[in-house]
Amino acid sequence: DKPTVYVTRRIPDAGIERLEEDYDVHVWEEKTPPSKEHIIETLADLEAEGLLCLLSDDIDGEVMDASPNLEVISTFSVGYDHIDMDAAAERDIPVGHTPGVLSETTADFAWSLLMTTARRTVEGQDYVLDGEWETWGPTLLTGPDVHHATLGVIGMGNIGTEVARRAAGFDMDVLYSDVEPNEDAEAELAEAGVDAQFVDQDELLAESDFVSLHVPLMDATHHLISESEFKQMKEEAILINTSRGPVVDPDALYTALEKDWITRAGLDVTEPEPLPADHELTDHVPEKLVVTPHIASASIQTRNKMARMAADNLAAGLAGNSLPNSAHQD
Ligand code: GLV
Ligand code: GLV
Repeated sequence: DKPTVYVTRRIPDAGIERLEEDYDVHVWEEKTPPSKEHIIETLADLEAEGLLCLLSDDIDGEVMDASPNLEVISTFSVGYDHIDMDAAAERDIPVGHTPGVLSETTADFAWSLLMTTARRTVEGQDYVLDGEWETWGPTLLTGPDVHHATLGVIGMGNIGTEVARRAAGFDMDVLYSDVEPNEDAEAELAEAGVDAQFVDQDELLAESDFVSLHVPLMDATHHLISESEFKQMKEEAILINTSRGPVVDPDALYTALEKDWITRAGLDVTEPEPLPADHELTDHVPEKLVVTPHIASASIQTRNKMARMAADNLAAGLAGNSLPNSAHQD
């Protein structure tokens, strides 16, 4: 009898095909996530050995207890703040995730938001489509230079490092903050021509023209950027968030944009997520805010790699082996 796995959304074929070779695979085929109740019922009915989930699923102890046979959880994401890691540890259920393969892709997208917000691409397109483009304008839609500006990276992990690396081509000064200096990253960046300076977060906020967030969501990073942090930032500053929505306090962001404590923000992640189209933050679109629907890792190649990696983690767990990419509490 093949082990049974429950996959909470259709992931790219590269992952499903890998699973179908060895397992009895059940996929939730809807566009929106199954409810927690539905995940619990399905795991119980299937007595599933494996669960492959997404960042939009809330996986707690109750879910883990639904199937008496659950051996492994694999998430199709690098972040695992949606999984109760203590509950998994108590039950000896290994949790896999997809680090590394999405770092460069996510960094590319952080840069896309940075360039878009600095140089007002979305506003420019609206201007054309609104029929306002009558002539070339000497001060039309001017924004700050990106080149030679100061980039502040909060969280110098894999993704933060790739964001910093990309600053080389723009001759930027790079500051970073983290719980401790990342000397490996500094060395790697130095080879790429980027002299990344470790500073405390206060200094980073005060000095940076662009602040880009690359921390995982946990208690210590919840609303890391709130009213006092916005007040520390330059009025010219632009905030980019491709990490997790709740790292930024949305009410404080609304006020910071309203009162011009900072100039603009680019968000790929929001609180709440999904962000309703009529949320008050969207009052600031597009002049002060650009928002995208959590697509920073969404390159075709990376999503295929994530699917294979998530399937490999699941397979390793079902075989009783250690996971090639195991999530662990910091
Ligand atoms: C995306 O946000 C991920 O965690 O993979
Ligand atoms: C994620 O891979 C990170 O370490 O930034």
